[in-house]
Amino acid sequence: MRIYTCEDYAAMSRRAADILAAQIILKPDCVLGLATGSTPVGAYAQLAAWHREGVLSFAQVRSVNLDEYRGLSGGHPQSYRHFMQKHLFRLVDIDPQNTHIPDGQAADPAVECARYDAVIRALGGVDLQLLGLGHNGHIGFNEPGRAFEKTTHRVKLGESTIRANARFFASMDEVPKEAVTMGIKSIMQAKKILLIASGEDKREIMEKALFGPVTPDVPASILQLHPDLTVVEACGLPE
Ligand code: GLP
Repeated sequence: MRIYTCEDYAAMSRRAADILAAQIILKPDCVLGLATGSTPVGAYAQLAAWHREGVLSFAQVRSVNLDEYRGLSGGHPQSYRHFMQKHLFRLVDIDPQNTHIPDGQAADPAVECARYDAVIRALGGVDLQLLGLGHNGHIGFNEPGRAFEKTTHRVKLGESTIRANARFFASMDEVPKEAVTMGIKSIMQAKKILLIASGEDKREIMEKALFGPVTPDVPASILQLHPDLTVVEACGLPE
């Protein structure tokens, strides 16, 4: 595990963008595993800026996103498809056909999960997976207490996740109660993982995830066992 400690959110975003851009430069047709949440927004803005300046192209990049809410169409302003369009896809030259996100409106979630796993397999797996971290240690939408061995699956969101995500909706009631997410197994199969987190409020869970026991109670703790994990943080972790 490599840990880069950054002074603030801007520095974390810049360092994360450096790592993502290096991946694209080394392998222009790479498969990026992408994440939503507020944490990656700054890194995406930096990547978009480099694209605007003509120094970075996504023309051959393929992407797979971690998760999507169940019940929201891709056009819904809080869907993760909409988030990705807004913060990255429409700002760069990625081919929309090469951007993959689970379909939150699929009639049969089991069929959708199997389809999504097949998409990842057909792409040859993820080269670099970007991850944020939930306050309860979740990655993607893999909530505490679930088994580590899952690929893409349907999940019921925990109370604290619904509460944390309510800030993006008009009320708690509007937050979807379920999602489709890549599982811990899918995440661990990525060749490289980049975990980013910022803010004092993430410090305690980051310490547990990176230095505590590896347990499904803290889903991100499994990342300690990944052979190529880079952490970029601005949470004030002790040196
Ligand atoms: C959501 C997403 C996660 C994300 C987490 C943290 O629940 N499914 O992928 O890492 O929120 O979000 P934030 O970066 O806003 O703290």
